[in-house]
Amino acid sequence: MKKLFLIITILLLVSCQNKQEKKENSVHETAVTVSGQELFEGEGNCIACHKPDQKIIGPSLQDIAKIYKTQKGSIVAFLKEESDPIVDPSQYDIMKTNFAITKSMNDDQLKALEGYIYSFSK
Ligand code: HEC
Repeated sequence: MKKLFLIITILLLVSCQNKQEKKENSVHETAVTVSGQELFEGEGNCIACHKPDQKIIGPSLQDIAKIYKTQKGSIVAFLKEESDPIVDPSQYDIMKTNFAITKSMNDDQLKALEGYIYSFSK
């Protein structure tokens, strides 16, 4: 009888732990994607010049993701003004005006933006 009780207790403990882990994982994932998109459309106002699949004032996110992937660039470094433009250097002056905003963001926020842009690569 004692043994049975012990086994049930262990089973309960294990199943609870599993649930908690799953919960933490999913919370983490959504937090990252949501904040990337939120920063892009909200605080960063990047959406004013960048659309997912169409060039407007700035290149499309698909183009940016593709070029950064093939050239192994760092969007985070670019947004900190630590690396040169590789997508459309002739229009760099327009993009430069946004560095005041991106430089005020921390690394996690910049990585979230980068992740959001990469989510459009095919
Ligand atoms: C006023 C319009 C405008 C806004 C707002 C804007 N961009 Fe841009 N962006 C551009 C233009 C134009 C280019 C093309 C010039 C270039 O490639 O540097 C560009 C290029 C880029 C590139 C490619 C850089 C490269 O290597 O050539 C990235 C990445 C980027 N923007 C990210 C962002 C992010 C993130 C935001 C929001 C914080 C943002 N942009 C807001 C106009 C804008």
